[in-house]
Amino acid sequence: MLYPLSILSLLLLALIHLTHGANYIPFEPKDTISFETRAYWMRRANAALAELNSPCPFTAFGTVIVNHTATSDEYPHGKLVCMSVNQNQQKGNPTLHGEISGINNCSDILTDPKGEYKLSPQETLQAWKTLSLYTNAEPCPMCASAIRWSGFAECIYGTSIDTLVEKGWSQISLSSEDVFEESEGLPSKTSNFPCPSGCSRAAKSGYCEAVVAQQGKSEL
Ligand SMILES: *[C@@H]1O[C@H](CO)[C@@H](O)[C@H](O)[C@H]1NC(C)=O
Ligand SMILES: *[C@@H]1O[C@H](CO)[C@@H](O)[C@H](O)[C@H]1NC(C)=O
Ligand SMILES: [Zn+2]
Repeated sequence: MLYPLSILSLLLLALIHLTHGANYIPFEPKDTISFETRAYWMRRANAALAELNSPCPFTAFGTVIVNHTATSDEYPHGKLVCMSVNQNQQKGNPTLHGEISGINNCSDILTDPKGEYKLSPQETLQAWKTLSLYTNAEPCPMCASAIRWSGFAECIYGTSIDTLVEKGWSQISLSSEDVFEESEGLPSKTSNFPCPSGCSRAAKSGYCEAVVAQQGKSEL
């Protein structure tokens, strides 16, 4: 009896392992937004630096928050709700990374009684779940946590924390992937950086990498 049982438990273990792997995927549903649109907003996050601060900012981190449901002839890439940049140097407030500034700015804009949206605080708390946050660099643990507490539908970032560290930026060495994974207890879900078509998420690092065909040829 022992022998078949152990085979069964091995099979069960394999199954648990497979399902666990699959559980990871709902955070990255198939990306229905075109690469062109993703690139448009990432460029907008970069352009926010010169628009809101300086073309040579000390901290070159910009964020745009987008309503992709509002895609129309007028807004073919979706509608910008607000943008912001890292304001540590201007304000002396170390929490004002681009993403936190963006969340602060959008909440001011969404709740402004004289503004376009005029949402109540309760409506604003619900609104985040329908919005996408673009940031030109991977959110640090502080920002990744704020993004998860907000419950954004998606977070799309440009370069990785590892690259920032390579370039000499001081960083807390915890990936946004890890923060997202540890925040599964929160009611909302945020899809972390859907990879553009032609790329897939590397199992080990969690970063998007170009899909390379079996023969070693790029599919791009
Ligand atoms: C996003 O766009 C949709 C469609 O236009 C709209 O119904 C919704 O209120 C918008 N969300 C926000 C937060 O403005
Ligand atoms: C907030 O976003 C709006 C709209 O994108 C922009 O005009 C404004 O300069 C931003 N303010 C800050 C403080 O980033
Ligand atoms: Zn940050």
